[in-house]
Amino acid sequence: MNKRSVIGTPLSPSATKVMLLGSGELGKEVIIALQRMGVETIAVDRYADAPGQQVAHRAHVINMADGQALRALIEQERPDIIVPEIEAIATDMLLEIEQLGMATVIPTARAAKLTMNREGIRCLAAETLGMPTSPYAFGNSLNELRAAIDGKIGYPCIVKPVMSSSGKGQSRIDHAGEVEAAWNYAASGSRVDQGRVIVEGVIQFDYEITQLTVRALDVDGTVKTHFCEPIGHVQVHGDYVESWQPQAMSPMALQRARDIAKKITDDLGGLGIFGVELFIQGDDVWFSEVSPRPHDTGMVTMCSQKQSEFDLHARAILGLPVDISLQAPGASAVIYGQLEAPGIAFSGIAEALSVPQSDLRLFGKPESFIRRRMGVALANGVDTNEARGRAKLAASRVKPIQA
Ligand SMILES: Nc1ncnc2c1ncn2[C@@H]1O[C@H](COP(=O)(O)OP(=O)(O)OP(=O)(O)O)[C@@H](O)[C@H]1O
Ligand SMILES: [Mg+2]
Repeated sequence: MNKRSVIGTPLSPSATKVMLLGSGELGKEVIIALQRMGVETIAVDRYADAPGQQVAHRAHVINMADGQALRALIEQERPDIIVPEIEAIATDMLLEIEQLGMATVIPTARAAKLTMNREGIRCLAAETLGMPTSPYAFGNSLNELRAAIDGKIGYPCIVKPVMSSSGKGQSRIDHAGEVEAAWNYAASGSRVDQGRVIVEGVIQFDYEITQLTVRALDVDGTVKTHFCEPIGHVQVHGDYVESWQPQAMSPMALQRARDIAKKITDDLGGLGIFGVELFIQGDDVWFSEVSPRPHDTGMVTMCSQKQSEFDLHARAILGLPVDISLQAPGASAVIYGQLEAPGIAFSGIAEALSVPQSDLRLFGKPESFIRRRMGVALANGVDTNEARGRAKLAASRVKPIQA
């Protein structure tokens, strides 16, 4: 039976089972979307009571970077579909699982492996596919980093661990006196490999976007690529604080953005949603990176699109058709923990929700850190300016407090 053409009954032998590897706020929404379709869900994370684990049929806590532990869990649960939600996973084991035909990996195990390391995806985009990117070089030591900057990249530049996300270990530097600190910071913020960085020339962009791109089966069984309206966003220290949809773009820049998104997602293949990150200056577009999964800036789609990026991902991976239409201009604004404590509370919720056309998501993370994303405010408006103002106002009214 092709499990993608039918959906069974959860908790019965016919169940269609989906395992999320990583169960943060994005995974939580994917699980909710799958639950609505009658899918049996299994939420995996490295800590207990992760947001997605609170809404799944079953939860497991393992080190997902440990290939043997991952394989043992997959053999125990026998999911039909495996959905990586984070980058730090034993992707070589996912390749093995896929090759053995044990489960479908979303979008493909190769895509998960390529995108977990900045080097893999950057070399594919710039060198194999010939797409415009910032100038870049790699280094394994402070000396190699210095040589790369002096010989090729220049200042200002941005130093990042090859394996990290959400801006961890990333710094922008303007002169030679800052290189050593950037190297040390990158080594401390790196997820797995302690000693390799990418250094990129700074692109002086007018604005940056996420082009959500969905590969889904058409009714005739072929894969069709769908483009959501572009999402504009603001990043602080490499982490997103605000996003809105649609971002106005010139017709030429939009066309180029979608050509790049089509090219990279065609190459990565499989089914599901991708967040293609692009820098825009006038009509020029640079590829930055791509997530083969829902994107944090795409949380705005929970209020701006008919089907959110999570609904789209759930449908696409199940082999179902998608509708990418925009419903209303919208915006999202991040709510940070602002304090370090387990089991915090939030006040000001009623005041936040009294902002016209606003909504909230509190992720339920068991522990708060000052810069940890604990929730998001959403809002609509007649245009994105009004929506942004409302989302920021609503977010500012939510106050994390010691319980
Ligand atoms: N070469 C560059 N030129 C200009 N700005 C850059 C460059 N690289 C990164 N940035 C800025 O830093 C932000 C984060 O960079 P990047 O996406 O590479 O980091 P990340 O850790 O993967 O973040 P995330 O996981 O949140 O996407 C970008 O969205 C952009 O605002
Ligand atoms: Mg990014």
